[in-house]
Amino acid sequence: MGFHVVGVLGSPLAGGNTAKLLDQALSGARDAGCDVERIDVTAMTISPCREIFYCREHETCAMKDDMIPMYRKFSELDSLVVATPVMTMGIPGALKSFIDRFQVFFMAKFMRGKPLVPEEKKAHRRGLYIGLSGMNVPYVFDGAKLTMKSFFTIIDVEYWDEILTRDMDTIRDITTRPDVMEAAYRKGYRLGELLSEEKP
Ligand SMILES: Cc1cc2nc3c(=O)[nH]c(=O)nc-3n(C[C@H](O)[C@H](O)[C@H](O)COP(=O)(O)O)c2cc1C
Repeated sequence: MGFHVVGVLGSPLAGGNTAKLLDQALSGARDAGCDVERIDVTAMTISPCREIFYCREHETCAMKDDMIPMYRKFSELDSLVVATPVMTMGIPGALKSFIDRFQVFFMAKFMRGKPLVPEEKKAHRRGLYIGLSGMNVPYVFDGAKLTMKSFFTIIDVEYWDEILTRDMDTIRDITTRPDVMEAAYRKGYRLGELLSEEKP
């Protein structure tokens, strides 16, 4: 089986601008020889973390919802793309809940010293962050980037690259920006290509 690249969509719009950029990146990774999969977080049933701390002693969560199969999937993936709009200067609530539930990985890695990601995967797991914002101010991605970098660290994914597109209130339709669409495809392709270069 080939390398597996997972794309996480934080926007509720399955065919919106963020989704289009994510699909471009995943097409690139597929063309570079990877298996790709898109996860639409807002279509899932995910409760926010309730600090039960079951994960202090267990490699899963006590709340049995759509997060449970994610733990295995995120242990096994080879690279990751997260695409999300900025909402209220951070990331959308559903995506934040999704990310918070990776406390399961945090506890395993930092509290028990037994990361859930196999040693041989760690070296090549890279992450691409695709961010869109309505506003055109320099600091608009600051909050989202802090969360994304923290998430990547927790799940043992290197913060490899980013595509940040401001001013969507003016641009409106991302397909009118072929440079950004092309960049998403190219970076997705490179993400996949780097994986295949590491084949023994
Ligand atoms: C609830 C909500 C909150 C938002 N908050 C911000 C914000 O704080 N800053 C910003 O620059 N854009 C904000 N936006 C604009 C989105 O980031 C922007 O429209 C983005 O392109 C949406 O992508 P999508 O259409 O693919 O979901 C917000 C949009 C929504 C719906």
